[in-house]
Amino acid sequence: MNVNWETEFVKLLKGSSHTVILTGAGMSTESGVPDFRSKAGWWKNIDPLTVATVEALEDNYELFHEFYSTRISGLSQLKPNKGHFIIADWQKEGLVQLVATQNVDNFHQTAGAEHVQTLHGSIKSYRCNDCRAEVSETAFLKKVPCPTCGGRTRPNVVLFGEMLPQESWQTTLANIEIADLVIVIGTSLEVYPVNQLPAMTNGKTVFINLDEVRGANAFDLTIKGKAGEVLERVDELLRK
Ligand code: OAD
Repeated sequence: MNVNWETEFVKLLKGSSHTVILTGAGMSTESGVPDFRSKAGWWKNIDPLTVATVEALEDNYELFHEFYSTRISGLSQLKPNKGHFIIADWQKEGLVQLVATQNVDNFHQTAGAEHVQTLHGSIKSYRCNDCRAEVSETAFLKKVPCPTCGGRTRPNVVLFGEMLPQESWQTTLANIEIADLVIVIGTSLEVYPVNQLPAMTNGKTVFINLDEVRGANAFDLTIKGKAGEVLERVDELLRK
């Protein structure tokens, strides 16, 4: 970590009148949720193309369903961590105007954040892949065909090859464009188009990540560490 990074971080946060926080899977690993590209990440053992694409849903529904059922049942026991709660507090206190996340676990909202854009959807709601009718978690887990059209059901997540929810994307982009500060947390910056967002601000940028990743040196302040621990240290200093 840089010398005096905490002081610099607090200065940026206090000096900004419009701050956006953008999170990835590393935000939730301290809750026990695996990320995708670290050593213990999902994509180290599974090729995403076989489970997280429309083709997988259409051609290999069994495997698609098994992958998402495993993730849903894994998440059911897990909770937001201190980092999610600190971000929610910062938002309530007016220090953060928008949280945008690639995570589908809803932990920012569970922790109390109100303005959250879910750029990759949510794994906590379900719909028919054909007619988009909403279905229950139980119906999805039991593979009950859509009661409206008989189609296959799925979580409301963005699969590889699908468009991001346009309203979320536009709202996030508009906030990033006017931001004085964009704080990016726990992402490998590998997935398009979200990885383009940090470069679209004229404001200052902070990057918090456990591992070094390509693109990290483009930020004004880069902090190597665990999201929850880093946010806790900043929060302590902020309150002194
Ligand atoms: P990745 O798994 O690609 O990257 C997570 C990053 O978080 C890694 O660089 C880790 O080093 C870092 N990390 C892990 N634990 C951390 C911690 N406690 N504190 C700070 N950093 C930590 O996840 P994403 O970049 O979010 O999309 O992945 C983007 C998208 O790829 C996901 O939304 C998902 C995936 O495929 C879809 O499925 C469409």
